[in-house]
Formats: sequence, structure tokens, C-alpha cells
Amino acid sequence: MAKKKVVVLSGAGISAESGIKTFRDSGGLWENHDVMEVASIEGWYRNPQLVLTFYNERRKQAAEVFPNAGHLALAQLEQHFEVTIITQNVDSLHEKAGSSRILHLHGELHKAQSTGNPDLIYDIGDAPIAWGQTCEQGHQLRPFIVWFGEAVPMMDKAARITSEADIFIVVGTSLAVYPAASLVDFVPDDTPIYVIDPHLPHMQERPALYRIEAKATDGLPKLCQKLVEQYA
Ligand code: APR
Repeated sequence: MAKKKVVVLSGAGISAESGIKTFRDSGGLWENHDVMEVASIEGWYRNPQLVLTFYNERRKQAAEVFPNAGHLALAQLEQHFEVTIITQNVDSLHEKAGSSRILHLHGELHKAQSTGNPDLIYDIGDAPIAWGQTCEQGHQLRPFIVWFGEAVPMMDKAARITSEADIFIVVGTSLAVYPAASLVDFVPDDTPIYVIDPHLPHMQERPALYRIEAKATDGLPKLCQKLVEQYA
């Protein structure tokens, strides 16, 4: 029998216990910067060197952290389900945990993109991007991040995956940022939604909506065990 499809929408909260700060838990500041200063297309045009430095630091920090019990529980769930993770996170902790189907809605820290040709994307590992560093066509490189004010190219694919979910999990996201937050609208009516967060985000009432007020490292391993017992 085909495995049931589990689709997960993850946000900054799943990586919080690995040591990466969330965005909206720190009073509008992100690592001492106004989010719009470092994570918007306007911010990039205004001060690209500051933005490069900011993401170079995030990349360095990401190289030093490890997946936690939440990421690992989702990776192990693949033994029983077809699991697809749609993450708003730009870190690679789901990959490090061993998950195999991951869609990064907001880009990836470990990649650089040409400012002149968006199709030119380079794996840069943990290396910094320098001002003056260019793609093979001579355009400045930028972080491969979807910033405020930019389109989310993976949204259609994410919506299609969501619309085929047998079970949907929302973890560690405030659901404050669109269009990512609107993915829950694509979940089929008869698909249960499990939401894990110590400060549960607002969600519209619907049948089979289960709210679990817990941290990812506590809530996810327990939920995954329950899903295996109940549905696998
Ligand atoms: N376990 C689970 N959830 C947690 C934990 C934890 N240990 N700690 C905090 N959280 C929750 C918070 O309660 C909050 O609901 O994680 C959520 C983090 O919300 P945000 O900081 O808004 O992060 P996110 O929803 O991922 O942001 C979306 O906004 O800044 C942009 O592009 C950026 O992808 C990001 C997007």
C-alpha cells in the first residue's frame, strides 16, 4: 500500500532550540537589525554591503548548529510516510537531520544567486559572499534568499504539494508572513492539521485542527509517534 502523505510547514521556531533566533520573538529586531533593513529588496538596494555582511554572519552561525529532536523526528517519519517539508527557513537543518524531500520557500543560506540572471544559483557552502564577487556573466552575487518585496517562486509548487496532503503539520511559524501563511488554505478539508508551537498562531477554525502548545523538540517526537500508531 502507498504510504500516506505527510506535509510539514516549518518556520523559524523549529530551529530555535538549535540556537538560531526566530524573527518575531525578538521584538521586531533580528540579530540587532530591523528586519526590513536586512531582509527586504529595498534594504539590499539601499545598503548591499550591510546585507552581505549580515547574511555572511548568518551563514557562519548556521555552520555551527545542529539539528534538534524536532528535525530528527521528521526525518525518521519517512520510514512510515511520504514526508515533504515545506520550510520557510533558510538554514539546512532539515537536510542535516536526513529529511529527503525539502522545499525551501524563502531560499537557502548556503547558496548565492546572480543579481543579473536569477537562474544562476551557486552552492557556496559556508563561504561568505564579497561585494564585487560576480557570477560567470559578471553580475554581483547576492544571497539566495527571498526577501520582503520579492515574489515567492516556489509557492505554486508548495500549494500543489499541500493540496495532496493526507496529514498536515504546522510547526514553529507565526503564520504572519504571506504568501507562506496562506498555504494552510490549500490543505484538503478532510485532512487533519496539527499545529505545534509554544505560542500557538491564530488559525481559522476547521474540523480536525489539533493545537499542541509545545516546543518543537518536545511536541514533534510525541506527535510523530502518535501519527505512526494512528495512521501508518
Ligand atoms: N518550538 C516551536 N516553535 C517555537 C519555538 C520552539 N522551541 N520557539 C519559538 N517558536 C515559535 C514562536 O512562538 C513563533 O510562533 O516559532 C514562531 C516563529 O515565528 P517567526 O519568528 O515569525 O518565524 P516564521 O514564521 O518562520 O517567519 C516567517 O518571516 O522574516 C521572514 O522570511 C522570514 O521565513 C521567515 C518568515
